[in-house]
Amino acid sequence: MIRRLSLAAAMTLLPVVVAAGDASRDAILAGYAAEARRADPAAGAFSAGRGEALFRGRWAGGDARTPSCTACHTADPRQPGRNAKTGRPIGPVAVSVNPQRFTDPARVEKQFARDCHSVLGRACTPLEKGDYITFMAGQ
Ligand code: HEC
Repeated sequence: MIRRLSLAAAMTLLPVVVAAGDASRDAILAGYAAEARRADPAAGAFSAGRGEALFRGRWAGGDARTPSCTACHTADPRQPGRNAKTGRPIGPVAVSVNPQRFTDPARVEKQFARDCHSVLGRACTPLEKGDYITFMAGQ
């Protein structure tokens, strides 16, 4: 009886585990939305279009080898990329290809810090981070 109960409990928990990726990404997005509103109370919803412009744009002010996110992540986020500085391979960043993308807050923050500095020569704003993830979540 006890065994049957715990199996039932495990089966009830299963959908939660399966959905965990999306829940973590949503939590990261909610965090950036709150930060964006603190910086500008009029900040609206995240925009996939602005995220794509950030991803594809050519920027000045960063490392000359990486004027764009596409320098390492390629123009097609569903394809594998390559680090323009080290030559090391990078897995596809589109969520449709890798559902684990943008689900680990520490990893997301670390890469935004590193990559925005490399491309834009400055930190990305919370709005830019949310836009970028929103774009990638639709890719
Ligand atoms: C110098 C090469 C390089 C450039 C340019 C670059 N990235 Fe990255 N990016 C990486 C690497 C390396 C990783 C970590 C490896 C991985 O996640 O597969 C990564 C991963 C990320 C992640 C974490 C993804 C996750 O799984 O959570 C984010 C966020 C990110 N990049 C954002 C950006 C943005 C925004 C830009 C443009 C402003 C950009 N990257 C440009 C190399 C780069």
